Amino acid sequence: MTAAVLMCRPDFFGIEYEINPWMHVAVKVDHALAAEQWDALHRTYVDLGVRVELAAPVSGLPDMVFTANAAVLWDDRAVLSNFHHAERQGEEAHWRAELERLGFDVHELPRSLSFEGAGDALFVGDQLFCGYGFRTDRESHRPVARILDVDVVSLELVDPRFYHLDTCFCPLDADNVLAAPDAFAPDSIRVIRELVPNLIEVPVDVAAGFACNAMPLGRHLLSSLTISQMEAPLAAAGYTTIPLPMGEFLKAGGGVRCLSLPLGAAERGRARDPERNPE
Ligand code: ARG
Repeated sequence: MTAAVLMCRPDFFGIEYEINPWMHVAVKVDHALAAEQWDALHRTYVDLGVRVELAAPVSGLPDMVFTANAAVLWDDRAVLSNFHHAERQGEEAHWRAELERLGFDVHELPRSLSFEGAGDALFVGDQLFCGYGFRTDRESHRPVARILDVDVVSLELVDPRFYHLDTCFCPLDADNVLAAPDAFAPDSIRVIRELVPNLIEVPVDVAAGFACNAMPLGRHLLSSLTISQMEAPLAAAGYTTIPLPMGEFLKAGGGVRCLSLPLGAAERGRARDPERNPE
């Protein structure tokens, strides 16, 4: 079970550019509501016994709330993201500093390779499933796997609404995966079906509510409101849903999972910053 997650308060969150089909600068974020939705997610973690580490938000970097994109983590190693869009590249140095503060050994990829961290890299058991097609280059997958010393499976994303793997694919445990088949190229969904013992299929319209952008915690699954439509198949797999309103973050193309980077076992016993993370 995830013992800790990294979050970043939405102090500077907003839609200031358009780098995915959900973002429209003309659509304003309700800042009070965004803070309320973020707080409710934060509170849910705390109530479930999860330790929440907080990254310092930075003015001018409105997507820093989406901590999932900082890096992919395994044991005490981190592979830092190389953001595809210039708009988010300013986050990289901050993520490096935050991860070093948490005690990770931070590795970088060559600048020429785009890679967007846990947004496009998710473990099913100890096998790393990586997405490509929109943000992350397929050519980054092998170097990432080499650094982490894990096996990698490459999956091609084909629907621009599901531009990160974590928008359409959510491993619940080593056997169960929640995923939207329509978001993948035919060869890739075939690979998923071959490798995953139990695939819980999410209809594309439900996935469009960011249902797959979810966080499993023990037998609970935190996600946005549309996860309620998956209650029955999830119950059959032993999971209870916790639906949370995520409307303000959906305007930026993000949900529960994007707002949370699981620190896993890696952070055990790491130094804390008493100012930002009081007991
Ligand atoms: N506006 C952000 C972007 O387009 C949203 C990131 C969502 N993060 C995620 N892990 N899917 O980069």
